[in-house]
Amino acid sequence: MEHLLQVEHVVRKFGGLTAVNDVSLHLDQHELVALIGPNGAGKTTLFNLLTGMIPVTSGKIDLTTEQSRYDLTRKSPVQIAELGLSRTFQNIRLFKSLTVMDNVLAAMTNQYKENFVTTIMRLPGFYRTEEEMRVAAKQLLDLFDLTNYATTPADKLPYGTQRRLEIVRALATHPQILFLDEPAAGMNPEETADLTNLIKHVQEEFQITVLLIEHDMSLVMNLAERIYVLDQGQILTAGPPEEVKSNPKVIEAYLGEGED
Ligand SMILES: Nc1ncnc2c1ncn2[C@@H]1O[C@H](COP(=O)(O)OP(=O)(O)OP(=O)(O)O)[C@@H](O)[C@H]1O
Ligand SMILES: [Mg+2]
Repeated sequence: MEHLLQVEHVVRKFGGLTAVNDVSLHLDQHELVALIGPNGAGKTTLFNLLTGMIPVTSGKIDLTTEQSRYDLTRKSPVQIAELGLSRTFQNIRLFKSLTVMDNVLAAMTNQYKENFVTTIMRLPGFYRTEEEMRVAAKQLLDLFDLTNYATTPADKLPYGTQRRLEIVRALATHPQILFLDEPAAGMNPEETADLTNLIKHVQEEFQITVLLIEHDMSLVMNLAERIYVLDQGQILTAGPPEEVKSNPKVIEAYLGEGED
C-alpha cells in the first residue's frame, strides 16, 4: 500500500542555513501524528514545504489518493489546498476585524470560488448556496463551542479561542490532511485538555489525517499514534509515544534546549 503522503529526502536551505536537512516521513490515511522538536528544529519550515508556501531545495513530496498520485513539489499553494491539504499557523492568521462567522464564511468562499467546479464534481450539492455555507459554518462553530462568539470580531476573542477559530477555518475547506502548528500554544491546561478531545473528535468524525506540531507534551502523548522528532533539521527518531518518550536522544535534545 502506498502512503497517503510521502516525504522523501526533503532539504530546504535558507542561504547557508539548512533548516530542513534530508527529511523523510510519511502519513497514512486517518492517522494522527505529531511532529515535535526543540525551537528552531525546522518544524514550521516543514509545514511551509508541505503546503507549498516555500519550494523545496531538493527532495520529493508525493500525495497518493484513490484517484491519482500528485507531486506536491510542483504545485502551488492553491493547488495543494484544492487537493485537500489545510493548515493553521503558529502566528494566528485571522481576519481580525471580521466577525467569527464571517471568518469561517470567508474560508468557505475562497474554496467555493477557486474550487467551484471541482467541488461540485467531488461532492454534488456541496455549498451550492450561501445558506448551505451558513448552515455548515454554524455546525462547525457549534462543535468548537464558538456559537456565542459568532458576531464577535476575531481580535476581541481570548487568545485560546482565536486558536480554535483557526482550526475551524482550516476545517471549513474540507481537508483530507490537516496540519496544526502549535494549536495549544498560549492555552491554559483546561483549554489544552478540551482541545485534545476536540482534535480527536474531529479526526474521527471527519475521517481526516492530522499532523500536529506541539510543545505541550500532555497533548502530544494523549493524541499521537506516532511521533516524529525533528532536531536541527533532521529526524532524530520516530515511533509510538512510549518509545519516543524514553529515547535518550530525545531527552538529550530537549534538555539541551533547556540549558541555553
Ligand atoms: N524564511 C526564512 N528565512 C530564513 N531563515 C528561516 C526562514 N524560516 C525559518 N528560518 C530558519 O530556519 C530554522 C527553522 O525554523 P522553524 O521556524 O522551521 O523552526 P521550528 O521548529 O518551527 O521552531 P519553533 O518551535 O520555535 O516554532 C530557524 O533557524 C529559522 O530561523
Ligand atoms: Mg514553528
